Parts: sequence; structure tokens; C-alpha cells
Amino acid sequence: MLTWDDFDEKEENKGSADLKEQVIEKTIVEKTVAAEESKPDSSSYSSASSDRKDKAIAGLDNLDTEAGLADLEGASARVSVDEKQMINCRADVNQLVPFKYDWAWQKYLDGSANHWMPQEVNMTADIALWKNKDGLTDDERRIVMRNLGFFSTADSLVANNIVLTVYKQITNPECRQYLLRQALEEAIHTHAYQYVIESLGIDEGEIFNMYREVPSVARKAAWALPFTKSLSDENFKTGTLETDKTLLRNLIAFYCVLEGIFFYCGFTQILSMGNRNKMTGTAEQFQYILRDESMHVNFGIDMINQIKLENPELWDEAMQEEAAEMILQGTALEIEYAKDTMPTGILGMNADMMAEYLHFIANRRLTQIGLAEEFPNATNPFPWMSEIMDLRKEKNFFETRVIEYQTGGALTWD
Ligand SMILES: [Fe+2]
Ligand SMILES: [Fe+2]
Repeated sequence: MLTWDDFDEKEENKGSADLKEQVIEKTIVEKTVAAEESKPDSSSYSSASSDRKDKAIAGLDNLDTEAGLADLEGASARVSVDEKQMINCRADVNQLVPFKYDWAWQKYLDGSANHWMPQEVNMTADIALWKNKDGLTDDERRIVMRNLGFFSTADSLVANNIVLTVYKQITNPECRQYLLRQALEEAIHTHAYQYVIESLGIDEGEIFNMYREVPSVARKAAWALPFTKSLSDENFKTGTLETDKTLLRNLIAFYCVLEGIFFYCGFTQILSMGNRNKMTGTAEQFQYILRDESMHVNFGIDMINQIKLENPELWDEAMQEEAAEMILQGTALEIEYAKDTMPTGILGMNADMMAEYLHFIANRRLTQIGLAEEFPNATNPFPWMSEIMDLRKEKNFFETRVIEYQTGGALTWD
């Protein structure tokens, strides 16, 4: 990255910089003369094109900067931190700073520092194993197929929910900045699943229709979809107790349940496969995705808690009851999915262990939004999963990529 020291150094070397500037200037003059010589005669331009240009420039004379800004809520003044709010805020959403929610900006920076792309992962070993008819058991193949089936569409559900509903209702620019980052990451995740499906030569129609055709997958999607639908009416607007609660319900459904519970059985199964040296490329893709997802969940929970703090009337007894019920329903659906994907014990795990793990996760989601645990004494049978999600280790894990993606700021024209 450029520093002020670099800047001073350049100042000291100004003599050689002057010489360089002269050489560049000479080259530009030579190129301009050559271009002028090869230019077509101006009479060859059509008069229609010339009229169009005149008309376009004349149109700018009528540009009224006041009128353009008047359409934007609150854009007439500089925004102060105190005016910023998560929802129903009238301060200008185009003014990113001053920051009010540092946690949102920090997550945007952390997510950006961990940027990755599916093509960076080597899939050769997976292709060989998948094509070898003795490479995997039927139960192992079922796990790969079901999870690709669920995730390949689930990330689209999340992305659509952000872009088509949540983004519009969250009236804070630093949170919107993270939502844009999250939407990009969801697109990368869908890309990753497609990349795996294509690499392995799996029937795409079968995979992309599981969310409609396979009950344990379909029931999870069917549970989440109405929450998007309730906000997608173009007349939907927060600002009343009921509509604010509808938004809060959507955030709990997507961040605490869909991303916070529905992803966990599948992630654990595929990563466990990777731990046993099977489908290691696919497992690596899932590992990167899980790291993004754990940040999405943390961001969503921060948003939910901030909205509760600013609008305590929303978090009444009925809403708390409803939130707890949603988390319990999500847990039950994910346990159903565990049973369907693991009819027998496999990869050192079984459906009962997964149920215990999901109880542990559900307790965590409940307490994260200020509710009481529902499964006392639930323990984590897969402590290695927490290790993978540990953000403090993220820098080491992503070391090469972090360096690769962060050199952008240090590029020079030399
Ligand atoms: Fe995702
Ligand atoms: Fe996500």
C-alpha cells in the first residue's frame, strides 16, 4: 500500500521524475501528431451525428441539480451521526460517512479482505473420485447430491431476499454497503456450486429442481419463501408497528434460520468428507463458503439487535414468542434433512449426533438475539466445526489470497 514515506521519497527523487515527465510528454506529442495525420476528413462525419451531439450538449443546459436532489430523501443537508438509523431513517442514504455502526463497516472490510473465487480451487481429485464407480459409497454420493441440490438454490433465495426486499428497507448506508458485499458473496457461492456440478458432470436439471422435488430440501425452501414474499409487494413500506415487525421477522427467518441453521447439517457433512480426504476440492469450496456465511449470520444478528435497540416496541412478548418458534421450526426441519441425508451412520456421524449439534446451534441463535435456550445441556459433538469458523484463524487460512487481493492498492504505472 502507498504510504506518506513513499510520497516523500518520490518528492526527493523529483529530478529523475522531471526527466521522466519530459519523456512521457514527448511521446504524447508524437502520438498526437500521428493520430491527427491519420484522422478522417471532418466533412466525412454525417450531419445527423453532429445534430445529435449538439442536441445532447444543449440538453445539459437544463440540468437542475436542485431538482435531482429534491427527489432523494434527506439529501438537502450534511448528515450527522445522530440522525442515522437502521430503519425508517430520513437522513441521506448516499452519505456513507460519518459512520454510526462501525461493526457494519468492519464486516464489509473483513469480507473484502477474504475475497475468493471458485476457479481457484483445484477439482481434479474430486473428478477422479466421482467418476470412479467404486470411489464413493451410495450414502456418500447421496450426501454430495442432496447438499448441492439444497445449496445451489438456497444461496439464490438469500441473494434475492437481500436485493429485492431487505436492501430497500434498511436505511443505513454502512449496512447497505455490507449488504452489497453479501449479495456479491451469495453470487460467488451459487457460482461455486455450479462450478462443482459442472466439474463432476452431474445432471444440472436434477440438482436445480431438488428444492421443488425432494421433500427434505423442498420443505426448507418452502418455509423461507413466504418471508421474502411478505416484503416483495412493491407497496410494502416500513414505518408502522406491523410492517416493522414484518421486516424483523424476515431478518430472523433469513439470518437466524436459513443461513444460521439450514446450512449447518450440509456444511458439517461435506467438511467431514473433506476431513477424510474425500471430495477435497468440494470441501474446500464449502470451507470458504462457511467462513463467509458465519460472517453473514453475525452481521444479521447485529442488525436484528440494533433494530431492537432502536425500536424496543417491536420486541414485545408476542414477537419474542414468534422468534423462538421460528428458530424451533427451523431446527426441526434441519433435523428432518439430517435424517433424510443420513439414513445410516456415515463419516463418523449420524442423524442423532446431528440433532444434538443442531440443538447446540439453535441455543446459540436464541441467545444471540436475547432469548432463552430451548435445549438445556446440548453440547457440540463436532468441535472441529467451531475451529473452522473461528475468525481469528481466518487470516492464516486465507493468507495467500489475502495478500493476492490486497495488492490492488499498491499497483503503480511502472
Ligand atoms: Fe451463501
Ligand atoms: Fe449467506
